[in-house]
Amino acid sequence: MILGIGTDLANIERIAGVLARHGDRFRNRVFTAAEQQKAERRADVAGTYAKRWAAKEACSKALGTGLRMGIAWKDMAVSNLRSGQPQMHLTGWAADRLAAMTPPGHRSVIHLTLTDDHPWAQAIVVIEALPEAGQEEKG
Ligand SMILES: CC(C)(COP(=O)(O)OP(=O)(O)OC[C@H]1O[C@@H](n2cnc3c(N)ncnc32)[C@H](O)[C@@H]1OP(=O)(O)O)[C@@H](O)C(=O)NCCC(=O)NCCS
Repeated sequence: MILGIGTDLANIERIAGVLARHGDRFRNRVFTAAEQQKAERRADVAGTYAKRWAAKEACSKALGTGLRMGIAWKDMAVSNLRSGQPQMHLTGWAADRLAAMTPPGHRSVIHLTLTDDHPWAQAIVVIEALPEAGQEEKG
């Protein structure tokens, strides 16, 4: 079953401006070390950060929380499989929230897709609950 969906559109120029004005303060508040390493070695640094920003916003919507003041952005982290497919990893409050919304006897899977076409970066997140082994739903 679907537990939540979320989407976000981020402006790459706006993210580039924040990077220029706030630099490491912004990077370190929002992005994990691994996310920063990936973005900084890309040709499109701001676009890579903007996709991950959009992913975190979309994920917070799928979790039903939205982004409140003081929220730990780094508890929603994006990595890529060898194929390039993006993955969302939750820790801290975000993992707690996911556990709380997952029905008993189920495990949750987070689906994430990203795209960018300058100046826009977009993310869509779908959170799905699957029955644990031995708990298959009866038709
Ligand atoms: C996946 C692909 C269609 C992306 O298209 P694009 O126009 O270059 O880029 P978009 O802006 O639409 O999307 C980029 C995002 O797609 C996602 N993506 C990349 N590969 C993906 C895959 N195999 N499956 C799902 N999503 C993928 C990533 O999140 C990427 O952003 P990120 O690298 O910052 O995380 C294109 O790169 C492709 O055909 N790749 C397959 C062949 C290839 O180059 N493989 C290299 C790795 S083996």
